Amino acid sequence: MDLESTTCLVTGGSGFLGRAVCRLLESRGATVIVPRSRDHDLRRREVVERLLSELRPRVVIHLAAVVGGIGANRRNPATYFYDNAAMALHVLDESYRAGVAKFVGVGTICSYPKFTPVPFRESDLWNGYPEETNAPYGLAKKMMLVQAQAYRAQHQFPAIMLLPTNLYGPGDHFDLESGHVIPSLIRKFVEARRRGDPTVTVWGTGTPTREFLHVSDAAEAIVAATESYDDGEPMNVGSGDEISIRALAELLSDLCGYRGALVFDASRPDGQPRRCVDATRARERIGFRARIPLRDGLIETIRWFEENEGRR
Ligand SMILES: NC(=O)c1ccc[n+]([C@@H]2O[C@H](COP(=O)([O-])OP(=O)(O)OC[C@H]3O[C@@H](n4cnc5c(N)ncnc54)[C@H](OP(=O)(O)O)[C@@H]3O)[C@@H](O)[C@H]2O)c1
Repeated sequence: MDLESTTCLVTGGSGFLGRAVCRLLESRGATVIVPRSRDHDLRRREVVERLLSELRPRVVIHLAAVVGGIGANRRNPATYFYDNAAMALHVLDESYRAGVAKFVGVGTICSYPKFTPVPFRESDLWNGYPEETNAPYGLAKKMMLVQAQAYRAQHQFPAIMLLPTNLYGPGDHFDLESGHVIPSLIRKFVEARRRGDPTVTVWGTGTPTREFLHVSDAAEAIVAATESYDDGEPMNVGSGDEISIRALAELLSDLCGYRGALVFDASRPDGQPRRCVDATRARERIGFRARIPLRDGLIETIRWFEENEGRR
């Protein structure tokens, strides 16, 4: 699909990943429309119906979601389930009814079973229940895959589903209450350095592993898949680099210029034991390879935080 002059509705286009996707779509010559939640609450079917029937976009990229780290998931499991399931249910169905030529659903690595063999292959997606702290979020998003495959089978609706790994980068959410691990640790280390704190506490034992993908790389994959992937099978989007939380915390502490000690608080939940996806399908089908090395991306993200934190 050529995106030049194509009307693309990007739900969640004002968010962390959405802004990067919109920038890229615009650079391809697409006409990008971003509905905001204050005007268009996508949990409400009649709102979504009106939006899609009036705008009649050719492409819908569904990124709108309620998203957060382990703490936020544990405090709000009902919201994380209901809001994400309701938005996907209506946006995908109304996209089909409005005759959209391509629907791109963006899911999450949190949909994988808790003990998936590493690296996670798409074929292992249904072999168990997700890790408990993010199961309501992961399963709500997983239903979008079921829905996309059902609409493809019954209506030949060209819906695809991508499963990005954990993202990070400039513009992330740096609040300690709801943020993901990288922005939360950056805030902790920078503030501890400024105050001269002797220790910084890191959630959990430090032993779990995670894989991180720069938000610009994720946007590249989403736009490339919009252009050239048309298959009912889900597609992982990742960097293939696995790092333990302990090694990540030590790296971030160093890059933030913090010279105190790290304390791992084992009373806090670790979340899933290991996470790293097999990105072979994305490499073979859309030619995607992550370009930004983790260390470079972290340096850029820390700089962004230091220059922009006053705005948040
Ligand atoms: N961040 C990650 O590490 C990560 C990893 C894998 C997958 N993902 C997926 O990537 C997508 C984007 O995540 P993100 O981190 O960019 O999230 P984000 O920054 O929190 O942005 C969320 C977006 O969703 C919109 N939204 C939320 N509730 C809405 C509602 N009721 N009606 C309409 N719009 C609503 C928000 O719009 P307003 O600004 O107008 O409120 C905002 O644009 C999500 O689908 C997420 O599951 C994220």
